[in-house]
Amino acid sequence: MYSKEKIKELQKLTNELVKKNKAGSISKKEIVQLRDTLRYHEYRYYILNDPLVSDFEYDQLYKALEKIENENPGLVTNDSPTQRVAKGLTKDFPTAQHLVPMLSLDNSYNSDDLIDFDRKARELTGLKEIEYCVEPKFDGGSISLLYENDLFVRGATRGDGVEGDEVTTNIKQIRSIPLSAAFSEYGLLQVEIRGEVLINKSNFKKYNEKIIEEGLPPLANPRNAAAGTLRIKDPSEVAKRNLEAFVYHVSYFSLLKGKKVPKELTNHSDSLKMLWDIGFRSPEKEKKVFKGIDAVIKYCNGFEVKRDDLPYEIDGMVIKVNDFALQDKLGMTSHHPRWAIAYKFKARQATSKLLGVEFQVGRTGAVTPVAKLEPVGVGGVTVSSISIHNEDYIKEKDLRIGDAVLIERAGDVIPQIVKSLADARTGKEKKIVFPKTCPVCDSKLFKEEDEAVWRCINIECPAQAVERIIHFVSKDAMDIRGFGDANVRKFYELDLLKDIPGIYTLDFKKIGGMEGFGQKSIDNLQLAIDNSKKQPLHRLIYALGIRFIGETTAKTLAQAVNHLLDLKKLSPEELQNLEDVGPKVAGSIYHFFSNKDNIKLLEQLEKLGLQLKNQKKEMTSSGNLKDQTFLFTGTLPTLKRSEAEAMVEENGGQILGGVSAKLNYLVVGEDAGSKLDKAKKLNTVKIISEDEFLKLIGKK
Ligand code: IVH
Repeated sequence: MYSKEKIKELQKLTNELVKKNKAGSISKKEIVQLRDTLRYHEYRYYILNDPLVSDFEYDQLYKALEKIENENPGLVTNDSPTQRVAKGLTKDFPTAQHLVPMLSLDNSYNSDDLIDFDRKARELTGLKEIEYCVEPKFDGGSISLLYENDLFVRGATRGDGVEGDEVTTNIKQIRSIPLSAAFSEYGLLQVEIRGEVLINKSNFKKYNEKIIEEGLPPLANPRNAAAGTLRIKDPSEVAKRNLEAFVYHVSYFSLLKGKKVPKELTNHSDSLKMLWDIGFRSPEKEKKVFKGIDAVIKYCNGFEVKRDDLPYEIDGMVIKVNDFALQDKLGMTSHHPRWAIAYKFKARQATSKLLGVEFQVGRTGAVTPVAKLEPVGVGGVTVSSISIHNEDYIKEKDLRIGDAVLIERAGDVIPQIVKSLADARTGKEKKIVFPKTCPVCDSKLFKEEDEAVWRCINIECPAQAVERIIHFVSKDAMDIRGFGDANVRKFYELDLLKDIPGIYTLDFKKIGGMEGFGQKSIDNLQLAIDNSKKQPLHRLIYALGIRFIGETTAKTLAQAVNHLLDLKKLSPEELQNLEDVGPKVAGSIYHFFSNKDNIKLLEQLEKLGLQLKNQKKEMTSSGNLKDQTFLFTGTLPTLKRSEAEAMVEENGGQILGGVSAKLNYLVVGEDAGSKLDKAKKLNTVKIISEDEFLKLIGKK
């Protein structure tokens, strides 16, 4: 899409425009240049994962364009970067007829299935060996995109395969889908392409954290989140979810007058390259072409091992006969093409039986039903109990004791019950009855009008006190290793630990006399408690268990103050000026800091040596990565990629999508590829090992 010369020109232009904009001298004559430059930076960010300018610089140029367009509405074009923004709500999604039906793929689960597929394809074509193109099977919501005269004109969901919902405005919110693309350079007039809308794992996690903070049940998997988002009626909400898209199939094209079919549309692999070259995110880097099925099988198995390291979910691979003429020869059955097959990875879904429901009281008094299941392996772990959130959730999913249930565990997401398998019922299943009183202290439960949760409001309820301490010491909060749920409960029952400050005044002599506590485990526990006093402020805020305050909001709050008690001075209105803090969250923070007992607790903790100051500004090396950017490449010796990235974020650093001038550290593991070469060339990037990284954050 961009020649070397063009790239140089756009980079130079960017610098000039940024300068001019700063000086306030950008004018109407620069409108075309502004648009081209912004499109180029969107491409670098969303397709190449390699941004060249900061978000701030991009925003400034965007605002300049917006201003010029507002003053000169006649100059606005359909594919201007500003045209993604939609005003108002969508009323209905009209029906859209696909130009070619959207078929699904036949599935295979092992190498024998693939060998069989290859044998049939060879028999039908009479060939000895077939060339295949192999690419990931993206796990999201499928979409169909229509371009005419190089402009994006319509986007639709799959629907029944023949017609779907027209969701053009929502699709425009996805920045990796270009609003215009140079199909005409290949002689094409109208083009229909297919792809998958995804939400990446980290955005999904953030999104789920947010809805859990709001007291709502999380979504079971990124696929539901992506597909569901496409049908939201508020496009600005769609934009916030940061969807991404891969395109992987040209389903229809017509030619401009006098043009012939371009060579790029004679085989699948070249069609992916064409899409990539004109600005789409196709699996150009992930695809591979092989002769014969053996190499295909090897590639698929290799990809399965890497599955967890990808930033988005894939549920398998797709194997396609590469040559389009051969594809035509093989044709379709009524359900799926004979020239392609999906190779499914090990399922992250399983079925089990719902044996019973236990009701647990949390630290806020919320009574949560927990489904007890026949133990079943799913996504590499054995699952035997799953939260089923609240009474409404149970009703909505129509769960009954004795039901066969479908369970899913997507990546590192908490397992969820997707649905009960109603067809398998025998009639002996029992309704789930919600208790009227607290299962721990027996006081009456209450439910607020606009809430789905029943609560025990007895402030003395032992379950709440214990759960508050368990939350405080947990891994994502103060991370006091060696405590564990069972020990907290034991100490509580023995009157050794009654509240949070009690953690820091534990009588180790008494613990020493207890069974299972040797000197070594006591020393370790004491050290872990001492170390926790140095935890950064955001961890302490999260550890306090204030309602609706998850890890993300805790970070926002920590950044907003110099000292935790400064939050006492902020009104609900002022709190709402903070990022992602709405009225509900602001109300909860205000409520917490207006309570004298809570203030007393915080003062007590400070006296005991805990950090209530925001130390970020003062610290440099020991465990603080503020303003530092990181990227990981290759397989790390001990850490999972997701763990290492979480450590960066926990320490205030930022993960970048690719190697660029903005990158400070590249952490290199085994089999590091092109990122390492690129970083070496840049000269400005510090290249470090996992060991050095751990030292940097004070973990070694
Ligand atoms: S090709 C006519 N390629 O999987 C063939 N599909 O189970 C068109 N999918 O409906 C599909 N990744 O939503 C193709 N690389 C990929 C894919 C892919 C995900 C989805 C697609 C399709 C479903 C079939």
